[in-house]
Amino acid sequence: MHLKLYALTEKGFVVLRDYEGPPIPKEEWMSLEYMDWKSGGDTNFAPIASALGEMECAGFWDHGKPDKDGIWTKNASICPTLVQWAKNVGANFGRVRIIKLNPNTYEETVHNLHLDDNNRLNPDGEGWVVRAWLELSDDPNSYMILREDKDDPSTESRKCSWATPESSQSIHLMR
Ligand SMILES: [Fe+2]
Repeated sequence: MHLKLYALTEKGFVVLRDYEGPPIPKEEWMSLEYMDWKSGGDTNFAPIASALGEMECAGFWDHGKPDKDGIWTKNASICPTLVQWAKNVGANFGRVRIIKLNPNTYEETVHNLHLDDNNRLNPDGEGWVVRAWLELSDDPNSYMILREDKDDPSTESRKCSWATPESSQSIHLMR
């Protein structure tokens, strides 16, 4: 048994209030070193914290660790505002990365739906590992899809429109 946030009981995710700043300069995430790493579509990943601080995107379990105690990579020095955002959560954190996802279709998205494995090797009695999501780009036609059951569209939730004044950011917590 893990300790879980009460707020996640109903749906397994919550939409947090919009990011309140400071603004994250575009150069911070555009200047990072990205790696060709495919997950959930045509993606490239820029690791900011990884299991051992190396520039790699593998699960922490490959190194015998639960997804906690992430170590900053060399990318971290390029994006101090993003690093501070992660620190501001005030909790132990594991992987921190930018995911650049190229445009895709609804059908591709549904095809790529998958259940993550955030709690592998997480010891019993400790806090349940969740993911926080901060949207950096403003793409009004883009939305995130979550399903309770991958094959049942009636269980689908969508988070549309990231629109906040200028930088379009929202945060999600997911199990
Ligand atoms: Fe995933």
